[in-house]
Amino acid sequence: MKKAKGILASLLAFATVISFSACSKGGGGTTSKATGTSSAGGSSTSHMIGVSMPTQSLQRWNQDGSNMEKQLEAKGYTVELQYANNDVNTQVQQIENMITKGCKVLVIAAIDGSSLTDALDTAKKNDCKVIAYDRLIMKTPNVDYYASFDNYKVGTMQGQYLETKLGLKDGKGPFNIEIFGGDPGDNNAKYFYNGAMDVLNPYIKSGKLVVQSGQTDFAKVAITNWTSATAQNRMDNLITSKYTGNTKLDAVLSPNDSLAIGIVASLKSNGFGTDSKPYPVLTGQDCDIADVKAIIAGQQSMSIFKDTRLLAAKVVSMVDAMEQGSTPETNNTTDYNNGNKVVPTELLSPVYVDKSNYEDILVKSNYYTADQLK
Ligand code: BGC
Repeated sequence: MKKAKGILASLLAFATVISFSACSKGGGGTTSKATGTSSAGGSSTSHMIGVSMPTQSLQRWNQDGSNMEKQLEAKGYTVELQYANNDVNTQVQQIENMITKGCKVLVIAAIDGSSLTDALDTAKKNDCKVIAYDRLIMKTPNVDYYASFDNYKVGTMQGQYLETKLGLKDGKGPFNIEIFGGDPGDNNAKYFYNGAMDVLNPYIKSGKLVVQSGQTDFAKVAITNWTSATAQNRMDNLITSKYTGNTKLDAVLSPNDSLAIGIVASLKSNGFGTDSKPYPVLTGQDCDIADVKAIIAGQQSMSIFKDTRLLAAKVVSMVDAMEQGSTPETNNTTDYNNGNKVVPTELLSPVYVDKSNYEDILVKSNYYTADQLK
């Protein structure tokens, strides 16, 4: 019975994701529901909480948004949830609207971490507290807390996965690898890149990893807005310029799943996936359904699971603490300097997923049903 309920919950969550995606076409999505003052064990306040998410075009943000909304409403808060179509001006306007509507706490996953200084000045003037969600908000004193997964560790785990699968520690090689990076406006992207490159760079220096394109600098490999099609195009260009004839592509570092799925599309269309031209070892992050399916099909090697239910629960507990006038718990008060101050941070632990453990980690935890991954 418990299991059946879990499956039902997952199906409902998935249906929510689908319905959010469906309404993304018309522009920045908005939901705002008053839930009254009844509380399921939390505060009995009816303050409005603003939740500003970057885009509905990526699966994870739909899950983050709907988890935040569900969990805040269960505590009796009214929620103003908006998605900004990856457009910085839209996000600024949405945040200003939330402040005008009277939100007392803003939870923001920034599109561009450095573009919210003025909006957060307005928040401050209106006694509105701010939690940076998943991505740190830069260059402002007006961000109170930050909650995320350990982003440097995500990169480290991707680098270590490549290291292990290629057998680099055992002295194997040389192998050909290409490097991809995330959106330069997203503060997380550099953490992912640095975490992975700190593992890979010694092998590049020793010649055990060879980047045939020569493109290793973050600025050269970064993919604006984390767009799949841009990653696909870049992979197409790399393959046609460097990996024709007998030059094998052994590995690709991709910081997340939206890039990895574009890279898989390129590999497929360039004839990879045969005995003579196997798929390279390819990393990812987020465990998007399409990418987990690609992992099961042997086209992508791994992803990083960041359980958005846990991040939402952590942020909701921070909101609750602030609303009750106490100090939210954090576990890192030294490392996340936003260029103006060190922001008290709670870091959760990422987990790697590949073909060998996806059922245990994603299905048994009711994050996905087995059917969703078919
Ligand atoms: C998040 C990743 C996500 C990426 C693209 C990053 O800030 O941490 O989980 O894949 O943005 O949306």
